[in-house]
Amino acid sequence: MTTALTLTDTAFRDVVAAAVRAPSLHNSQPWRFRNRNGTIEVYADPTRSLLVADPTGWALRIACGAATLNARLALAAMGLAAHVRLLPDPDDPLLLARLTPTAAWQTTPAEEALFAAIERRFSNREPFHPAPVPVHAIVRIENAALAEGAWVELHSGQASLEVISEIVRAADSALRSDGSYQAELRAWTRSDRDDRDGVPAPAGGPVPQADDLLPRRAYGSREPSPGGDFDPEPLVVVLGTAADSPAQQLQAGIALQRVLLTITDAGLAASMLSQPIENQAERDRLRLALGRSDVPQMVLRVGVGRPGFPTPRRDLAEVIDES
Ligand SMILES: Cc1cc2nc3c(=O)[nH]c(=O)nc-3n(C[C@H](O)[C@H](O)[C@H](O)COP(=O)(O)O)c2cc1C
Repeated sequence: MTTALTLTDTAFRDVVAAAVRAPSLHNSQPWRFRNRNGTIEVYADPTRSLLVADPTGWALRIACGAATLNARLALAAMGLAAHVRLLPDPDDPLLLARLTPTAAWQTTPAEEALFAAIERRFSNREPFHPAPVPVHAIVRIENAALAEGAWVELHSGQASLEVISEIVRAADSALRSDGSYQAELRAWTRSDRDDRDGVPAPAGGPVPQADDLLPRRAYGSREPSPGGDFDPEPLVVVLGTAADSPAQQLQAGIALQRVLLTITDAGLAASMLSQPIENQAERDRLRLALGRSDVPQMVLRVGVGRPGFPTPRRDLAEVIDES
């Protein structure tokens, strides 16, 4: 039994403000938060599930795992160590994580840097500069995933990208030919700047082109600028876990967020390509292509970014349950 320290309402709100900066598929923000006697509870919000794209809840758990890491970092930045339990109550499957602040904590420089990166991180769907990702950043990305119990594989160079590109294209093409999938995606693509959820068209990047190496989602409406071709040889990162249980998917979300914050802190940019994870046949092909027996959970493209467009979040009042 872990005894919780008292958490003021203001501190709780600050933690939630950091948590909601986590990524979520189509910016659906499928979470709720509760302060229960000083412990922070992260709940799935099934009313915001993506019924077509995410029938199993994989994407929801990735998003809520990422939010849990942000909450843990926010507590650390306040000088509080937290005990994190995933799926702490077998009778309440919507309760995905419980963070119990347990002791005063000397924030490490690494935690401070990751916490500071939360506000700066965003999905950058613009073309990256044709400059290589420095080796020290590659080592940091690998260590970030390992520190949170996940693995990453990094791929660059024509031969290995050709195989991954072919798999992402096949998955993308299957999803593009699915009318209900596309209708749901369109419903979450926003042209009104006042919307607080969904993906705003400017953040969606240029309209995908048939010859892009890695097909992106059709969130954007802007034609690519002349010469603004997509990275000919990006760094592709595949992140995965040992198994595919709900707890491992939450863990994948925690690790994904640590990888994304590490990329941001290293001055680099990233965006996600989850088509080959959402399509089971292509997910299996990806696993085999990587020569692995465990489970890919996300594909990222990483590079030296140009300025992009951050995506808004809903007000805290909409995601906080008063207990
Ligand atoms: C499980 C998951 C899958 C995602 N898949 C994609 C994707 O395939 N393409 C993409 O451009 N963004 C993808 N995203 C990123 C979200 O669109 C993004 O996080 C959301 O719009 C919020 O924007 P932000 O990341 O800039 O804060 C994914 C995010 C998550 C958590």
